[in-house]
Amino acid sequence: MSSHEYTSALGEPDVTEVPEPGAVTVVVPTFNESANVRQLLHRITESVPARLPCEVVFVDDSTDDTPEVIRAAAQDCPFPVTVLHREEPAGGLGGAVVEGLKAATSEWIVVMDGDCQHPPSLVPDLVATGERANAGLVVASRYLKGGSRAGLAGGYRVAVSRAATWLAKSLFPRRLHGISDPMSGFFAIRRSAVTADVLKPLGYKILLELAVRSRPRTVAEVPFVFQDRYAGESKSTAAEGLRFLRHLAGLRTASPFARMVGFGLIGVSGFLPNLLGLYVLTALGLHYVPAEILANQFGVAWNFLLIEHLLFRDRRAHRRWWDRLGRFALLANADLVLRIPLIALFVHRFGMGALTATTLALVTTFVVRFAGTEALVYLPRRRRRTSARSRV
Ligand code: GDD
Ligand code: MN
Repeated sequence: MSSHEYTSALGEPDVTEVPEPGAVTVVVPTFNESANVRQLLHRITESVPARLPCEVVFVDDSTDDTPEVIRAAAQDCPFPVTVLHREEPAGGLGGAVVEGLKAATSEWIVVMDGDCQHPPSLVPDLVATGERANAGLVVASRYLKGGSRAGLAGGYRVAVSRAATWLAKSLFPRRLHGISDPMSGFFAIRRSAVTADVLKPLGYKILLELAVRSRPRTVAEVPFVFQDRYAGESKSTAAEGLRFLRHLAGLRTASPFARMVGFGLIGVSGFLPNLLGLYVLTALGLHYVPAEILANQFGVAWNFLLIEHLLFRDRRAHRRWWDRLGRFALLANADLVLRIPLIALFVHRFGMGALTATTLALVTTFVVRFAGTEALVYLPRRRRRTSARSRV
């Protein structure tokens, strides 16, 4: 087989001399896709090199023989094929894509799935659109006219996908403006627009991560039809849905101000377990003062759990959980204890009314508590260099 046998979709005969490093690096994350990768490489061979010089980088976390199948199939490919197999699958699908983005050397990078749900014939179109629009990012969208979600199995997946898209777009109206399908796993990005070091991917939604954390100024879209899987089943699970919500929360609270708002909202939600605890404890016959103190701990525990998982997910590594809980509880209770003398100070020294004094005290202790939690519980650790990856 030689590249000369291929004709481009536009019908012009091709005379590209390959293999050589391509103008586009196709990054394909794979997890146990041995039944799909040969077909994928075949389809790429048929529709890409004739129109655009390419190379393919698989970032593989498989436990099956996917890497061997890729290497065997690569023999028939008129372009370079690389497999980066990761022993430690950090960050799941998103982490794999970031590895691929870092490894790529060409001007354009296209990310696509390894199960043939993304048509490779679109790869040259994505890049051409990006060149024409002078865009940094081109998204293959299922929601544009001409696109469709044909391959999304079942009404349930369609509904979940729609809800997730709606939620993401309402949380990031500006960042996701002009991106009709932020959940898409199929897109082209200009290498100069990639800022892999700011990305903290968590699970499946790598495009969302890219668009929110380092959105290129110009974004374009191309419609596509989401195909059926060639073989096997989706690797996405219910846990992936939860990971997505945590991912959204992490993205939304990346700025200190947004984090403070989140901290406040979580604090307010803590009234619920607090009051419930108070109700139960006093109903059990406990005196209201110890009941107040105990019930407050319910609120503290509730707040701690939410804050750990939603606000400071990636800032937990440098302290043990009991150390963090201890510090957090100390700050929360100090807040309660200090509020009364603070109010007294405002009333007696500064002659404020009780309501004004209380409001001011609440705000003061809230800000102090937030700053204290940031600095004393979750102070960001200095970044460690990531270890070398294995290239095979
Ligand atoms: N390296 C690596 N590590 N690859 C993974 C992992 C992982 O942990 N998990 C999944 N993959 C690979 C799969 O092997 C496949 O090539 C690709 O990522 C997509 O995985 P699927 O399991 O087929 O995902 P899906 O079809 O449910 O979801 C796709 O469509 C969604 C839109 O509905 C993905 O493209 C999603 O990103 C997209 O949101
Ligand atoms: Mn799939």
